[in-house]
Amino acid sequence: MVKLPKHIAIVMDGNGRWAKERGLVRMRGHKEGANAARRIINYCVEKKISSLTLWAFGIENWGRPRLEVRYLMELFYRALNNNLKAINQNKIKLQVIGRRDNLEPKLISIINKVENATRDNSGLKLNIAFNYSGKWDVLNATRQIVRANIDPDAIDENMFRSFLSLPDQVDPDLFIRTSGELRLSNFLLWQLAYTEFYFTETYWPDFDETGLEKAISEFNSRDRRFGRVK
Ligand code: IPE
Ligand code: MG
Repeated sequence: MVKLPKHIAIVMDGNGRWAKERGLVRMRGHKEGANAARRIINYCVEKKISSLTLWAFGIENWGRPRLEVRYLMELFYRALNNNLKAINQNKIKLQVIGRRDNLEPKLISIINKVENATRDNSGLKLNIAFNYSGKWDVLNATRQIVRANIDPDAIDENMFRSFLSLPDQVDPDLFIRTSGELRLSNFLLWQLAYTEFYFTETYWPDFDETGLEKAISEFNSRDRRFGRVK
């Protein structure tokens, strides 16, 4: 019997190269990428996976051409705005992790609206990392701990973790990155400490249920010892 991961974290990479190979503009790759994300989300709902974390926009992505940044912001806005009903019907609990304060007000308000509307849903916990970076997450936790005047000797792993993103979810047990890049690129740092890594050459817009099943089957063949011996 296949053991399903409890929490899958994905770096959805290769949208630009997917488009370039077809002589299309990068934005077309992002649009197809959004469809791929929908497929994978539906699969996780169907398989009753507990958590799925998708990286949609990294803090470093602000350095891309203005038009592309604009497009990615708009794409995310529309994805939230147009799918709220479907998200609720599928009992998805959606949460956005990352820096919030420097996003456009209309994006902040749709994020709040979707998070509030889905907060009591009992199905898939869908976490979208948007304007996120792993180092930001650690620094943000540190700032909160200092502000709360916590006794340094009281800071242990469990309490530190409670100030990071996704404190109430198990850490990802499977990490996937598409497009052949073998990097973490400042995604979840603390939370991926003992995660199994899986890489595929497939560009994100071409990633589908079969690709995910391959990753899960590889995950099943891993011997997880967590630093101990069998
Ligand atoms: C990933 O695809 C999508 C985002 C970071 C939003 P890329 O845009 O990084 O695609 P490549 O790496 O240029 O092919
Ligand atoms: Mg890339």
